[in-house]
Amino acid sequence: MSVLTSKHNDPTLVLTTSHINKYIRYMYSKEFDNIIQFRRSNRAFDASIEVPEEVMIKSLERTVLSPNSSNMQLWEFYWIHSNSELEKFVPLCLNQQAAKTAKEMVVFVTRKDKWRSRAKWNYEKIKSTITGEPGKLQKGGLDYYGKVMPLLYSNDGLGIMSTVRRSISFFMGLRKPFFRTGGVANQRIMVHKSCALAAQTFMLSIAAEGFHTCPMEGFDEMRVKRALNLPRGAEINMIISVGKGTEEGIWGPRFRVPNNEVIFKR
Ligand SMILES: Cc1cc2nc3c(=O)[nH]c(=O)nc-3n(C[C@H](O)[C@H](O)[C@H](O)COP(=O)(O)O)c2cc1C
Repeated sequence: MSVLTSKHNDPTLVLTTSHINKYIRYMYSKEFDNIIQFRRSNRAFDASIEVPEEVMIKSLERTVLSPNSSNMQLWEFYWIHSNSELEKFVPLCLNQQAAKTAKEMVVFVTRKDKWRSRAKWNYEKIKSTITGEPGKLQKGGLDYYGKVMPLLYSNDGLGIMSTVRRSISFFMGLRKPFFRTGGVANQRIMVHKSCALAAQTFMLSIAAEGFHTCPMEGFDEMRVKRALNLPRGAEINMIISVGKGTEEGIWGPRFRVPNNEVIFKR
């Protein structure tokens, strides 16, 4: 334990690393609280204030560090920046005020269809760490991306793979807990979960930089996909508008149902 004493060498004024760590934890916690309280869905952004490019870049770079299922990163983030693109997205977001006044937007996209290349990417990453005989963890990793991911993500027009997955889950789950999966809906849920976590990282980062966001699911998915030239396998998770929020953009106090209706300790 390192000990710092005051410059007068007063032994009653000692600052231990434990004190310092407690203080740092307190500061982090307080700052995190500030960010959580600061983030509100703001639907009217100040027309005179631009969002600095570095705020967007930093936030997008933080976004890709979000937790995601099996590190498959089946997501894409389309930063809508130019005025002409922003204008194009206003009607696609059903003319919402949050879109009309947005200085920037980011479209959060799921890419379930990219599972093969992402599994291969992870496989190759693990392979590149192997020198000589692979260790147990490395072997497990290679099997995971080489065998488990294809089983989890592959599909065929007849639904055979879905039935195979459902059957495996059913039989393996008879005697002990087993991962329940099956059809395309399970796969879609999987990629949307990860993408929504990325969206939250982005919003908290923007809040930490002193700007505001509004997540939107009110949009025309078909037209948004067309505007971004996305293939059938891609889906829009949400669109987040960004800017410097105004008071008018906050529609009222924050209401939440009581904690005891949603938080359960067992
Ligand atoms: C997935 C999702 C979709 C949303 N879609 C819209 C939307 O289309 N338009 C809108 O004005 N707000 C939208 N919101 C914002 C919510 O209405 C808002 O988060 C909620 O009322 C809680 O308020 P707060 O974000 O200020 O805490 C959406 C939020 C989420 C998480």
